[in-house]
Amino acid sequence: MTQTSATIPGPQETGAEESTATTPSGSLDEFRALAASLPLTERVQLLTGQTAWRLYANEAIGLQSIAVSDGPVGVRGTGEIAGASSALMPSPSALAATWDLAAAHRAGELFASEARRLGVDVVLAPQVNIQRTPVGGRHFECYSEDPLLTSAIAGAVVASMQAHGVAACLKHFIANDSETARTVYVSEVDEQTLREVYLAPFEHLVKDVGVWSIMAAYNGVDAAGKASPMTDHHHLLTELLKDELGFDGVVVSDWMATRSTVASANGGLDLIMPGPGGPWEERLLDAVRGGAVSEDTINDKVARILLLAHRVGRLAPAAPIPAEPREDDERFIRTLAAQSMVVLRGEGTLPLVSTPQSIALIGPNAVSAYVLGGGSSTVNPHHIVDPLEGLRTAYPNSDITLLRGGSARVHTPPAAPGVLVSATGAASVGPTVTIKAADGNVLSEHVASSWNGWFNELPDAAASVTLSGAFRLTQAGTHRLDLGSVGTYRFSLDGETIASSDEFADENVILNSSANSPAGVGATITIQEPRDVPFSVELTVIDAGGYGRFVRADLRHLPPGEDTDAEIAAAVAAAASADLAVVIVGTNAEVESEGWDRRSLALPGRQDELVERVLDVAPHAVIVINAGAPVLLPWLNRAKTVLWAWFPGQECGHSLADVLRGVTEPAGRLPWTLPAREDDVPVPHALPDDAMRVIYSEGVHVGYRGWERSGATPAAPFGFGLGWTTWRYDEAVLTALPDGALEIAVTVTNVGEMPGSEVVQAYVTSTAQLPEGVDRPVRWLAGFDRVTAAPGRSTTATIRVPSRALEVWHKANWHRPSGLYEFEVGRSIRDPRITLTYELPEREETGSAGEVSIPS
Ligand code: BGC
Repeated sequence: MTQTSATIPGPQETGAEESTATTPSGSLDEFRALAASLPLTERVQLLTGQTAWRLYANEAIGLQSIAVSDGPVGVRGTGEIAGASSALMPSPSALAATWDLAAAHRAGELFASEARRLGVDVVLAPQVNIQRTPVGGRHFECYSEDPLLTSAIAGAVVASMQAHGVAACLKHFIANDSETARTVYVSEVDEQTLREVYLAPFEHLVKDVGVWSIMAAYNGVDAAGKASPMTDHHHLLTELLKDELGFDGVVVSDWMATRSTVASANGGLDLIMPGPGGPWEERLLDAVRGGAVSEDTINDKVARILLLAHRVGRLAPAAPIPAEPREDDERFIRTLAAQSMVVLRGEGTLPLVSTPQSIALIGPNAVSAYVLGGGSSTVNPHHIVDPLEGLRTAYPNSDITLLRGGSARVHTPPAAPGVLVSATGAASVGPTVTIKAADGNVLSEHVASSWNGWFNELPDAAASVTLSGAFRLTQAGTHRLDLGSVGTYRFSLDGETIASSDEFADENVILNSSANSPAGVGATITIQEPRDVPFSVELTVIDAGGYGRFVRADLRHLPPGEDTDAEIAAAVAAAASADLAVVIVGTNAEVESEGWDRRSLALPGRQDELVERVLDVAPHAVIVINAGAPVLLPWLNRAKTVLWAWFPGQECGHSLADVLRGVTEPAGRLPWTLPAREDDVPVPHALPDDAMRVIYSEGVHVGYRGWERSGATPAAPFGFGLGWTTWRYDEAVLTALPDGALEIAVTVTNVGEMPGSEVVQAYVTSTAQLPEGVDRPVRWLAGFDRVTAAPGRSTTATIRVPSRALEVWHKANWHRPSGLYEFEVGRSIRDPRITLTYELPEREETGSAGEVSIPS
């Protein structure tokens, strides 16, 4: 992967000629006067979104509307371009698994060109929360368990995105590392841990990269003795982020997160999203008029929005230049997904040297690959190349059999086309939809031409919606019919009420629950003859504020004959007789998503049994894991070839085929720890306590650092990945640099038979004496470099260890304890190859700003 040069002009270049006299150069102070020139009502108006994805324009000052869009796997768009689709990249953890800053840089360019194509100015990404627990619902959206790796990858993404005039919005500030009760819980984090772990990526992105916007999280934070909802947190937003770190961008609320008017306005929040509505608007105007919020405070917020507009080319005279997608986007996504795959076991099967005549492609995720995780990061991909298409294209002459090997679903599947009929009995793809006003009068009725479980085309007067029709059951036997709904509903089958709920639902159903994948209620019906089973679902319209008004009803049907025993047996038989068995297991939309945390690390369904039984008959089977976050693989050591394939994005099947055929090396290294047993996990669950507090009691021992402290053996350690060649570590030389950083030059030789890439990692341990009350991890990542070499060739990795990697936070400052530091250079945290020692002298002259050296 090579770093490509910029092709999309930034706004500064676009209006350069006309703007030399009038366009400010881009410091916050320059925009305060312009902000103050607006009437107060107009200033306050600018501080709440105009829609869910747009900010207000103000013609008088040449401010155009700024458009924002999710999210970390691509750019979804604002919904204003009918039918728009997007480039879908692999999940962020996959990008981190490359440890490849050039790839991250290229991903930033893709974000920028996609954003411009879709008319978007601010991308709500990347997400730099730390993977504190493997069960965290948004684990796949984050980069890593480690702050240094997170900072490096995010830094490259943001720098290249913003170099093209598109703003990143770093999220979610801060300690927003789990989903259960996410708008309610308060994270309690000690200050040292906050600084060294959770703040580190934000600090790097603000101070070293200059990120243009940051999202304040849903949760509250209790840190440095100050507890408050994040959107109100004066200490963290104003004193720390803006005053101390010098953040000059916009702090935007997470969607619907803000509850207060004065506290949030004075706390440091700049922009309420979505809009219109929310706690500012008129109420903020009143607060200013009443003196509870000063005009200076308002002017500062407006100036930040103007500076953002200037940066993205939405403030006259500059204008953003639309960019077409780069021609090699598909190629980039395809290569990235292949390159990010982590070889967990590789005993010689891959890459395949000859074309298999027959391939048994097996597994629930072979039939239905999970290419992106659930929640707000979702985009509508341009296309999805599924595993079958990928293998068929790569092996046109092979005989490929696709077998599911049992379902991994948690819920009953959506009713297949042809099963749902409308109320008149006409074959249709959706039910009859009757929209009613509060007094029960029918406002409209139509037969839905498609049905995906969400319906929001509602007139203002709509109060309820009735769905009616029938499940057309054609097979004799036992059928399962279910409804998945949220809020108030009544579900009837055959004229009888089967289930009902009078639960009130508002935007919290989206923010805090599993509206994406509701549990099912229904009945089991046995029939001898084909027949239509009439149903009706009465639903109360849910008003979810800025998320709009909708009803939610998944209509689900499981026909007779699903026989997992038989499916597994058929898959095993196919594996036994094929030249090559490829088994794809993993999670799915019912398991991994924003909105909830997992309760178990096990693969859903009987997938472990499927793999075990395939391995009994086909020991050389290639096992592929299609999951974002860790799952337990009890059969791992029995398998000869195991690939961790992430959520691979739109080119999924091609990427997999490229790895099988040897086109691209699966060169990924785990950016987190893969547990062997749930009991070993340092932070095994994400549940708040009874007082709704999430206590970060593990302190700085997060992720792999917790494993280092306990000494437990994971299934695969942090940094692990075999690639397809082997490496010898020849020598390492450490040099102290004048700026306080260290440089470790490591010479490695590719002693295998394939060209490949190695991620040379440096971990540090230290016996330096610590200030009282300061805790240090047993061992932590200090730096890394990724190198490539042909077989038999040597190359030198240059690892920069920033001064910060040796520092600790104590008594409101950074300190660099002098004493002995030992650097272990190697292939993962548990595979050191060369050890170097370094004595950090007392009272060093050099170091990072504000650092104090502590004599031992
Ligand atoms: C998520 C954010 C997202 C926003 C807008 C929120 O629920 O937490 O990550 O950017 O919605 O979709």
